[in-house]
Amino acid sequence: MTYPKPSHTRISITAAMPSVEIKLEKLTKFFKEVKAVDSVSLEIYKGEIFGLLGPNGAGKTTIIRMLSGLARPTSGSAQVAENDIVKDSVKVRRIVGVVPQSNVLDRELTVSQNLRYHAKLHGMKKSRYEKSITNVLALVGMKDKKDSDPLTLSGGMKRRLTIAKALIHEPEVLFLDEPTTGLDPQSKRALWDRIQALSEKGITMILTTHYMEEAELLCDRIGIIDKGKIIALDTPRELKKILKGEAVIEVTHDGKLDPQVLEALDFVGGLDSAQDNIHIYTTQKKKAISYLFTNFEENILSVDFHEPTLEDVFLHLTVKELKG
Ligand SMILES: Nc1ncnc2c1ncn2[C@@H]1O[C@H](COP(=O)(O)OP(=O)(O)OP(=O)(O)O)[C@@H](O)[C@H]1O
Ligand SMILES: [Mg+2]
Repeated sequence: MTYPKPSHTRISITAAMPSVEIKLEKLTKFFKEVKAVDSVSLEIYKGEIFGLLGPNGAGKTTIIRMLSGLARPTSGSAQVAENDIVKDSVKVRRIVGVVPQSNVLDRELTVSQNLRYHAKLHGMKKSRYEKSITNVLALVGMKDKKDSDPLTLSGGMKRRLTIAKALIHEPEVLFLDEPTTGLDPQSKRALWDRIQALSEKGITMILTTHYMEEAELLCDRIGIIDKGKIIALDTPRELKKILKGEAVIEVTHDGKLDPQVLEALDFVGGLDSAQDNIHIYTTQKKKAISYLFTNFEENILSVDFHEPTLEDVFLHLTVKELKG
């Protein structure tokens, strides 16, 4: 993946203290006995793109729903631009734009009518929203679809319309819940460019995604969430340092290679194993490969190696839970 990181100034956590736009304090949401979000405390800075990564059911959407005033916390609190998400929920809804995980479109209305309706809900004046509709349709490449019936749109087009809807009232904070799911590679890249452009304008964003390259490219900082708790939080670069080792050796085997034998070796810094696949983290790549072929040649189906990626870190931190 060689898509370049933009050269514009990104927030550095070592720079002068940036202002906090979103603050979560022990934010918690239970659904009966399910702890969907479990005492999450976070500060998200103005203009930052904050990535929220986590396995299915980790609590990402629930956090976004609470922060956008759509779900009430069980306990704890949060502020968006100093507005309390419960007490000032009307104001919060005005400030934020939300791209929900599932598209919410009115089937009775055309594309531009959907946008107009949403703009009116936000109290926009006609002169402002007509201009904004033209702008957002151009932004998502749907100018020629303005009179279409949403039912006739492809899945990706529906997604783009949902994104346009979130932007219509020119929000200062944007929540993007898996925005690129279902988009083709060109549309995905075009949206990445637009997200970066919005960030340059100072819009603060929380982005959830299951695409690690997307998170790595776009996000200033990433929080990894599992079972409602933030289990790691840092810049993508720092997160990758969690895997102490210069190389990840990925071994596919016949199911007879015992990972515990490898784990005990001094040149194995760490290891993750699932069925017939083992990821070995090591600073001694040559030694590890030579050992593997000397001792397990008949069991090994393939060996691959690469620098640690964000996906390796994500799997390392969350895979044990999945195996449960
Ligand atoms: N309305 C609801 N009623 C009951 N349980 C819910 C409800 N919404 C979410 N949950 C539960 O809360 C937990 C967190 O769900 P959430 O949708 O926030 O996860 P997520 O991280 O967004 O997952 P995904 O990656 O699959 O979108 C899950 O256990 C889910 O089943
Ligand atoms: Mg979700």
